[in-house]
Amino acid sequence: MTTPHQFGGHWTDEKLERLRKYLHAYRQIFSKNPRAKQLRTIFVDAFAGTGHRQNTPVDANQTLPLLVDALPIYDEDATAFQQGSARIALETTPPFDHYLFIERKPAYIAELERLRQQFPELAPRITIRQGEANAALQDWCKSTNWQTHRAVVFLDPYGMEVTWATIEALAQTKAIDLWVLFPLGQAVNRILTRSGPPEGGWADRLTTFFGTTEWKEAFYRLNPQMSLFDDEASLKKEATFEQIGAFFLQRLATVFPKVADNPLYLRNRQNVPIYLFCFAAANEVGAPTAVRIARDILKK
Ligand SMILES: C[S@@+](CC[C@H](N)C(=O)[O-])C[C@H]1O[C@@H](n2cnc3c(N)ncnc32)[C@H](O)[C@@H]1O
Repeated sequence: MTTPHQFGGHWTDEKLERLRKYLHAYRQIFSKNPRAKQLRTIFVDAFAGTGHRQNTPVDANQTLPLLVDALPIYDEDATAFQQGSARIALETTPPFDHYLFIERKPAYIAELERLRQQFPELAPRITIRQGEANAALQDWCKSTNWQTHRAVVFLDPYGMEVTWATIEALAQTKAIDLWVLFPLGQAVNRILTRSGPPEGGWADRLTTFFGTTEWKEAFYRLNPQMSLFDDEASLKKEATFEQIGAFFLQRLATVFPKVADNPLYLRNRQNVPIYLFCFAAANEVGAPTAVRIARDILKK
């Protein structure tokens, strides 16, 4: 029996279609260009899921969970099994030299093992690792020889699971092309409360996520309606979805030499941008070509 993995909606197709196109273009370049051919290529799916996914109907009575990451929110009325990112990657031609699938749920790991059996020729190239994505990625960045390897890393979390330390580790390899799903309306905008900046654990969470405390100045302004009797200056949220997205891209640009400036807005049926699909390239030499291709793919 297979373990169903229910998440996403129409936006998921938009995202995975972009990933499919990029992986194809990437492997074309690395199999044709004489210098690039010398390098070994790796595809990493750090929130790999099962390799397939099932859309589910919207639950009209659904309320917001207490924890931001206690999601997903389903957004479609179609129920169908579709391809997940791991399968899409394995179908890339020509194939990658190596695949690393990271997933924390044992039941999903079992599904990924089943997926491996469906690709017997690629099976020896596939590593499936059960564990926490940030720890596993940071380990992998340290233990890989970046003189001889290049990689595409796909980060597809539900919410704010990716830490800034991981983004930095990926950038420092100077060898990785990164596709990352930024949880714009799904998580970040919800934590940025209107009444004033979040405090305590929520504030720490934003800081770990963005790798800076500057989010506070970026998203909050002094409240002009402060009364004369208020002792402390109060702050009021002043951030649109566009500004929050732009802040994340600016953060990526502090560590990656090039970032695509046209991320894809993935919207739910109420037209709320729940995610931004972003691209950044870490290799100085390859980055202009990588970003040009990614920009084109993001446009369509
Ligand atoms: C949106 S799903 C990924 C879907 C997948 N990319 C696909 O297209 O089929 C997110 C996955 O990340 C896993 N996950 C969540 N937090 C994780 C973490 N900290 N480390 C590793 N896996 C995690 C979840 O169990 C889930 O399978």
